[in-house]
Order: sequence, then C-alpha cells, then structure tokens
Amino acid sequence: MNIENLKKQIIEKLSKATSLKDLEIIGKEYLEEKRNISSSMKELGAKEKKELGVRLNELAKFLEEEITQKTKKIKLLEIKEKEENEFLDITLKGDNVKRGHIHPLSLAKKELEDIFTFLGFSIEEGPEVEDEWHNFDALNFPLNHPAREMQDTFFIKQNNRKELSQKEKLVLRTHTSNVQTRYMENHKPPIKIAVPGRVFRSEATDARHEVCFYQIEGLYVDKDVSVANLKAVLLRFLQEYFKDENVKIRLRPSFFPFVEPGFEVDMSCTVCNQKGCPVCSYEGWIEILGAGMVHQNVFKNCGLKDVTGFAFGVSVDRLAMMKYKIDNIRWFHSGDLRFLKQF
Ligand code: PHE
Repeated sequence: MNIENLKKQIIEKLSKATSLKDLEIIGKEYLEEKRNISSSMKELGAKEKKELGVRLNELAKFLEEEITQKTKKIKLLEIKEKEENEFLDITLKGDNVKRGHIHPLSLAKKELEDIFTFLGFSIEEGPEVEDEWHNFDALNFPLNHPAREMQDTFFIKQNNRKELSQKEKLVLRTHTSNVQTRYMENHKPPIKIAVPGRVFRSEATDARHEVCFYQIEGLYVDKDVSVANLKAVLLRFLQEYFKDENVKIRLRPSFFPFVEPGFEVDMSCTVCNQKGCPVCSYEGWIEILGAGMVHQNVFKNCGLKDVTGFAFGVSVDRLAMMKYKIDNIRWFHSGDLRFLKQF
C-alpha cells in the first residue's frame, strides 16, 4: 500500500465518521495497514526503511490529531442533541411550595441581637442548667435572702444535694444574669455583652407569666460607666426595636441584689401614645425591664476591681407581645398554626 493513498483513504473515512465507534474502527484499520506495510518492508534497504518509518509516524500523528478533534466535535454534538431532547418548559406551572413561618420569638431575638450588635455589644450565651453560685450567690443573693425564694426556682434533683457546694448544686437558671457572673470571671473589662436566652420560673401561668420564657441581658463594664450610659443605651434600643423615635423611658428605684442602685424601667405606651388604654392600664407607661449599676460585691465575687458597670434584663416575650400586640404570653408555646402563620 502506498502511503499517500493510505492517507487519502483515512481522510475520506474520517470525513464520513459520525460516531466514536467509527473513529475507533479507523484507528484500528490504520494500525492493521501499518503492520502490513512493515512486513512488506523486509526487502527494502536500510535508508528506504527509515524514510518509510518516518512518514508512517507522521501519518500516525496526523491521524491522532484528527481523531482527537473529531472526538471533541462528536461529544459536543451528543450533548447538544441530549439537551434538545430534554427540553424544559419553564412556563409550566410548578408545585405549590408551602412556606414556613419564623416564630415571633425567634424574630424578636434576631432583631434584638441586630440592635445590640449595632450598639457595639457582642452576643454571648450561657448554660440553661446552672449552678447556684452563678445564678444566685455570685450575684449577691445571701443564702437566706427572700429574693432567692422570690425567684421561684426549679431545682434539679440531686440525691446528695445537702453535701454539695453552691458551685455543684444545680438549678434551671431563673434569669440570664447567670451569664454576667460567668463572663466576668473569665474576661477583663471593657466588657460589653448582650445575652439572649431561655429562663425558667416555677410559677402559675397567666396571660403575662410562663414557666419558660426568653430574656436578653445587657452588661457593660468599664471605668466610669454611669446611669446616663445605661439610660442612653436603653432608650436607643427601645426606639430601634419599636421603630419609634418618640419612645420615652423613666427609671423608678427598685431592688435586685446584684445592682445598686437598681431600677424598674417603664416605657411610654406605644399602643395609645400615652393617651391611656387597657394595655397600659390607662397609665401611659408600661413596666418593661429591670436594670441597675452592677453591685461592687458582684465585681468582687468575679475577681474584678476598680470598675463600674450597668446591667439590665428584659423579657423578649414581653417585648414581642408589645410589638405585635399579643394579648397572652401562652400563645407563644401553643403551637397554634393560626397564630404562627401571621408572622
Ligand atoms: N435578672 C433580673 C430579672 O430577671 C433583671 C435584671 C437584670 C435586673 C440586670 C437588673 C439588672 O428580673
């Protein structure tokens, strides 16, 4: 077989090849021919053999290149064909996907976290099962102080409870203030944290009280922190949360063992704009949170000195109730879809 002819033949066949199989056959055929040519080369002289060998190799290279190109083209065509067969009609009506709803408490928590982050607080968390030391003692609750009973605590059953230290006796935390003491033990001022979380109180439920609810705690410790700083932060956070620049607050003296002075904070009623309505019992003010300047004994218990700070704790449930005008705290855990679907 003459090499020029062989090349012509190959080109002809390649032009007719339409599948990967065809290409494979052409490749094999060439190898066959090459073997035939090689075996008939025996009679040739060394110089001719070499020349022929070079040309055969060139042809092989050419063929390889052609086959690679052609393979690519065929594969592309196959994909195109497949795509055309799998025509997708994007105008067809799809299945109706039922969307879930964010629970109003999750929504409130998220919004509050955003506000406090914006105000420069970092978001921290702490344990729901807490030892008495962090929930009470370190917060300056004396062992027999009535305030400790006032909290109506859920105690965790421990057989040898009487022999345990305050750091071993467990309770369900009654407030997020436990994270104040936990955090101050391990961090140096300036401290600026906001702590959302679940708290538990063993009390009869009614429209405004649940055994389990959410709080968000604020703690700011540094040098020269004052009540003015506390007021500014509280006012700004309430105005942001209720998206109302006219929100006002007032501080009334109150008692919590871990702050001195301590305050009960009222905010102007956003439902009636202080004209008087059932929500504010026609007072124009609503008691919204507890706050105060951190008691020096608390700093001492946590190993801090020469600092001042403020703390506050607010019920997330109460905030959400006021924002969405929810008249009963028990809706939150009711699992009633008619309620949940509104958010
Ligand atoms: N821990 C208090 C409560 O649960 C609220 C509070 C927090 C008061 C911080 C003062 C300072 O009622």
